[in-house]
Amino acid sequence: MTNYRIVVLPGDGIGDEITHVTVDLLRAISSKHKFKLDISYEDFGGSAIDKYNDPLPIKTLNSCKASDAVLLAAIGSPKYDNNPRDQRPESGLLRLRSEMELFANLRPVKTRHALLEASSLKPEYIKDVDLLVVRELTGGIYFGKPKAKVNTDNISRAFNTMVYSDYEINRIAQIAFELCKNRRKLLCSVDKANVLEVSQLWRECVNSVSKEYPDITLSHQYVDNAAMQLIRKPDQFDVILTSNLFGDILSDEAAMLTGSIGMLPSASINLDGPGLFEPVHGSAPDIAGQDIANPIAMILSASMLLRIGLQEIKAADDLEKAVDMVLTDGYRTPDLLSINTKKVGCKEMGNKILQSLNEI
Ligand code: IPM
Ligand code: MG
Repeated sequence: MTNYRIVVLPGDGIGDEITHVTVDLLRAISSKHKFKLDISYEDFGGSAIDKYNDPLPIKTLNSCKASDAVLLAAIGSPKYDNNPRDQRPESGLLRLRSEMELFANLRPVKTRHALLEASSLKPEYIKDVDLLVVRELTGGIYFGKPKAKVNTDNISRAFNTMVYSDYEINRIAQIAFELCKNRRKLLCSVDKANVLEVSQLWRECVNSVSKEYPDITLSHQYVDNAAMQLIRKPDQFDVILTSNLFGDILSDEAAMLTGSIGMLPSASINLDGPGLFEPVHGSAPDIAGQDIANPIAMILSASMLLRIGLQEIKAADDLEKAVDMVLTDGYRTPDLLSINTKKVGCKEMGNKILQSLNEI
């Protein structure tokens, strides 16, 4: 029986609640599909700062690197807002992505039929949305140097650098084109080439990679226009390829098309090592501990872990099917509630999905 080593990072805020529900489902699915999961928990984010003054302790990093896949809930809390930058939860996440060289972040956004009414957009605009944001994750302005906050002659200044090398753009473009092959074959690269040199290089590189993919239709949009098009006509998009910062912003926007950011999973991968699978949403400290968080983004992240990280395709399909069954039955956490739906908490949502899994 195959045995996979999974590292789970519950993190902060609602992390514990949604992790509990998700790990129960993973255990159920592994016994159903006859593989073993060797699950270990590690400290990460705010909870690691509290214990070790470090959001990414070395033990956590080493376990992640030695695993087959990493499942993360969420990190962050206002409690650390005034900490020095390297002692904030977010810095741990950026270091983890960088240390594991997870340069490709995949954020699929697909409308679920049962949730058409939960979106703030009209159903006719979102009913056919099925897009994938491919975000570059280990470069750009998030990591560019020089960066600093300085004070000279009583004037405070701060700066960051948005920088990309050709090889960083080429490898993320290649991933996006490859993923496009099994989809509608439309790739839209998003940049700000009318203003930024770094975007001009981005566009040149994407154009040159596109020559290897004659079957895929490539278009380019400026990021301001793309933000508008996502609301105006979201079903025009198949794969959106973009840089770290633009992808951060556009993926939150795209998440809302489906009704709640509580639905959106993500996978961060490279070409060979273990991947990191995490919901797009944050740790939501304001609702932590109340059993009202939506665990579905983390459950769907676990499904991406099964599909992309472990190649357990049938198990991933089952998990997604179980989620759809529960939504079709009308069960909703408070973030998704609309007329004629039944309100459940985080735990109960997990139980309902578990029941559906047993019925498949
Ligand atoms: C995300 C988050 C992170 C990011 C934060 C928590 C550092 O917003 O994964 O989208 O900006 O990448
Ligand atoms: Mg974000």
